[in-house]
Amino acid sequence: MNNEVVIKCENISKTFPTADGTAFDVIADFSIEVNKNEFVVLIGPGQCGKTTLINIIAGLEEATSGIVTVGGELVTEPDPKIGVVYQETNLFPWLTVMGNVEFGPKAQGESKASRQERAQKYIDLVGLTGFENQHPNKLSGGMQQRVGIARVYTNEPLVLLLDEPFGHLDAQTRYLMEEELEKIWRQERRTVLFVTNNLEEAIFLADRIVLMTNCPSTVKQEYIIDLPRPRDITSREFLKIREEISKNLDLTS
Ligand SMILES: Nc1ncnc2c1ncn2[C@@H]1O[C@H](COP(=O)(O)OP(=O)(O)O)[C@@H](O)[C@H]1O
Ligand SMILES: [Mg+2]
Repeated sequence: MNNEVVIKCENISKTFPTADGTAFDVIADFSIEVNKNEFVVLIGPGQCGKTTLINIIAGLEEATSGIVTVGGELVTEPDPKIGVVYQETNLFPWLTVMGNVEFGPKAQGESKASRQERAQKYIDLVGLTGFENQHPNKLSGGMQQRVGIARVYTNEPLVLLLDEPFGHLDAQTRYLMEEELEKIWRQERRTVLFVTNNLEEAIFLADRIVLMTNCPSTVKQEYIIDLPRPRDITSREFLKIREEISKNLDLTS
């Protein structure tokens, strides 16, 4: 394991004002480090502040206190080196699959040949070869998430933040997407922070799992998952880890 820290959150707190004038503490003193090419999964109850934290790391939201650095630089605003995939794919409906995937480098002024070559590589990698000229509304939910993943990879960000990207998918498609994502990550290593509320998904994907508490949320516990990849979710070792973590996991909020 390479121990160069790429994402670093130090003592992050976030308080939202509420309608009645009181303060709502969502995140309190949250610290985490993600090493280069490490796959860390954050797991916690609904409404515990996972998306808020992702938005803070992405530079879309300001922490009330604490600091975030990515690649050693303070995050103060969105930056192309920080790629984000949300539960909602937010694809441009008027653009084709290729149009969506090449969007970032096109906006940066990269030449057509160069950006489309890279876009094609990731379209192929996510299994969408032949769908380049389709529009997103013609694709299933799982395929739309594949476009989202190809798009974020094509931007070649330093880090990937994935916020419950498979949360809207049916169980079958979800398994398939977890397998695909894990395969892509083994081929194209990236520093990943992945958010979920699904323990099986977390153990399938993670080098390390970080458990969050309820609001105001902080780190409850960390688990190193050193099972060989790709993982067999029915293996004894897998089930043993699942049992151990679930003792500590309260996903009700
Ligand atoms: N802009 C905001 N203003 C006020 N409250 C917010 C805002 N954004 C999120 N919250 C509240 O913060 C809590 C955590 O939200 P969120 O980060 O979306 O949680 P999670 O992603 O873990 O489900 C929720 O109670 C939500 O209503
Ligand atoms: Mg969320």
